[in-house]
Amino acid sequence: MRSKKNRKKIKKFRIFLLFLSIVIVIFLIVFFFSPKEKDKLLQLGYTKEEKNIILNKVGEENIDSILKYGYNKNIILLMKEKAFQKEHLKQYIEALSLFQLPIKDIIFIVNSENYNKRYPYDSYLVSVMKSDYYIPSYLDRYIKYYQNNKNIKSEELITRVNSNLDYPFYTDSQKTDLSKGYLMIVNKYYHLDRDYVPQNLVTISSEYGRAGQQVEEKTYKQYIKMYQDAKKEGIHLYIISPYRSYARQNNLYQNYVARDGKQEADTYSARPGFSEHQTGLALDILSPTSTMDNFITTKEYHWLLKNAYKYGFILRYPKGKEYITGYMFESWHYRYVGEEVSTYIQKHQITYEEYYAYFVKEKQNKK
Ligand code: DAL
Ligand code: ZN
Repeated sequence: MRSKKNRKKIKKFRIFLLFLSIVIVIFLIVFFFSPKEKDKLLQLGYTKEEKNIILNKVGEENIDSILKYGYNKNIILLMKEKAFQKEHLKQYIEALSLFQLPIKDIIFIVNSENYNKRYPYDSYLVSVMKSDYYIPSYLDRYIKYYQNNKNIKSEELITRVNSNLDYPFYTDSQKTDLSKGYLMIVNKYYHLDRDYVPQNLVTISSEYGRAGQQVEEKTYKQYIKMYQDAKKEGIHLYIISPYRSYARQNNLYQNYVARDGKQEADTYSARPGFSEHQTGLALDILSPTSTMDNFITTKEYHWLLKNAYKYGFILRYPKGKEYITGYMFESWHYRYVGEEVSTYIQKHQITYEEYYAYFVKEKQNKK
């Protein structure tokens, strides 16, 4: 009786052992013979050499997205690029299928600071992004402007949008940022309050220009230096209009409107609050005997064009840039911005609008 019970127990135990061994064997087979993640790369069609490149560049732990994507030679090309960054692997792969761009540009757009797969990246947009003075946070505006203005070169697109030409003049203008000091901008997009008066105005002496008028102190100091150096070369400078108050500008502007109509007046006179003369940093300079109309024919005009930047002045409304500044060419209107900025602007022949957008407002710091 007892031994029958034991035999039954032993039989049960044997069945259990058999079952256990089968499980263990199956487990061992699965473990040793199923392909490892990295060998799946080979199965997908990558060569051994390509597999090694992948493992080297991103590590075995990051190959999920490659396995999902299947074999693609471009993945290897991506990884061979210097600018390849492994943390962007997923986005590169996604961008490869979304945008028809060379590998180098796929890397370039994904690495850019505001990459967004919803942007319509194409070779034109890439050239915009690679242009001088490109401001990443303006990308939406560049895209919109381009959509409404085809056939425009990428550099020109940047010039226009950076200068705010995607908005009409005098609509929704902002108060200018006074904290920029000598680099504040005043134009048809940025204005000064009615009661803004520069703090450090000084009265100019009759030797330097029309007596009794005022100008900002540092601007005056730099003007005097320029005046004296010019004099040594037989050049005679004469200030006809420096600082103008809001009220004075209003008076001038209203007279011009009465004479020529608003549309015409807007091409040569600022509306009150929108004149650089109210900053105290702008000077209308002629020779003592010339007029605005003939100043361009004088040696003083040519001397200033060549030398004013050395003292921190820029010609503010140059010829050919009327569509940016919003004013006709003014051969006499100089603006003090300091020597570093005036030297840059002289060298690169850009407007203050362009300089301000890139270096002052958005502080891109690429010089
Ligand atoms: N003539 C310049 C633009 C002004 O009125 O300020
Ligand atoms: Zn002026």
